[in-house]
Amino acid sequence: MQELNIAFIGGGNMAEALIAGVRGSGHQASQITVSELKQARRDYLSSEYGVNCVASNTDAVQHADVLILGVKPQQMQAALEGLSEHMKADASVISIAAGLTTKSLHEWLGVSANVVRVMPNTPALLGAGMSVLFSNADEMHKLRTEYVLNSCGESLRVNEEQLMHAVTAVSGSGPAYLFLMAEVMQATGEKLGLESEVAAKLAAQTVFGAGKMLVESGRSAEELRHQVTSPGGTTQAALDTMYDMGVPGAVRKAVVAASKRSQELS
Ligand SMILES: NC(=O)c1ccc[n+]([C@@H]2O[C@H](COP(=O)([O-])OP(=O)(O)OC[C@H]3O[C@@H](n4cnc5c(N)ncnc54)[C@H](OP(=O)(O)O)[C@@H]3O)[C@@H](O)[C@H]2O)c1
Repeated sequence: MQELNIAFIGGGNMAEALIAGVRGSGHQASQITVSELKQARRDYLSSEYGVNCVASNTDAVQHADVLILGVKPQQMQAALEGLSEHMKADASVISIAAGLTTKSLHEWLGVSANVVRVMPNTPALLGAGMSVLFSNADEMHKLRTEYVLNSCGESLRVNEEQLMHAVTAVSGSGPAYLFLMAEVMQATGEKLGLESEVAAKLAAQTVFGAGKMLVESGRSAEELRHQVTSPGGTTQAALDTMYDMGVPGAVRKAVVAASKRSQELS
């Protein structure tokens, strides 16, 4: 992959995760420009990651081979106003906005824009992201997108745009579900007498270790759960309670709600 000029429109949380991933991957050759409204945020991003920060979207996109749209879905149309005439014709346009369709992006940028829709997640900040892409654009644009995404973790493609709602519900919003689990485990550990820092460490390292086993063991979540559940033991007591209280059903409903919200946003 040639040296790429990458421009971000919007330098918020998710953009920062991707910038950190690209910078941390050793792709020092890539030039990164970030267009961001807030001066304080521009100062922070340039001092933390050594990226070039500007206040004007048109300045940011002029030389960009890859344009990453990192504003909120409801900010997107305004952010793209008049931008297409300043873009390179072969620029890859990556949108990370939840729910915004390729059709809307083409309406705002023109039908010839090389749009790639991506759903990343925040662990990209540590190079442990999960990103999924959908695009009808040429293979080169998908390869460029994967080049960026793979520096921040893993990536997959889906062939139907409709599936991006399910992706958003599982991996896009997913880290928050596990943070909630860790929060509750920590708080309950404290109630049971553990020092706050000890309970926090136990919850965090447990979520990390379980995730690492799931990724690296080659076994399914169900198999791993059975493996740590001795009949009549402590884990069995906890899981029985979770089933009695309807935890699996609640998680199912939560994931469906996220998918519905993604559909509403589009
Ligand atoms: N956070 C996640 O876990 C996650 C996961 C997957 C996908 N996403 C997607 O990532 C996108 C960004 O989310 P986020 O959480 O990073 O939001 P965010 O922190 O609010 O970042 C958006 C940034 O863009 C700035 N901005 C707004 N309009 C702009 C414009 N016209 N030109 C330049 N900058 C502009 C915003 O400034 P102001 O604050 O002043 O408006 C803000 O700093 C969203 O579309 C979201 O759907 C997020």
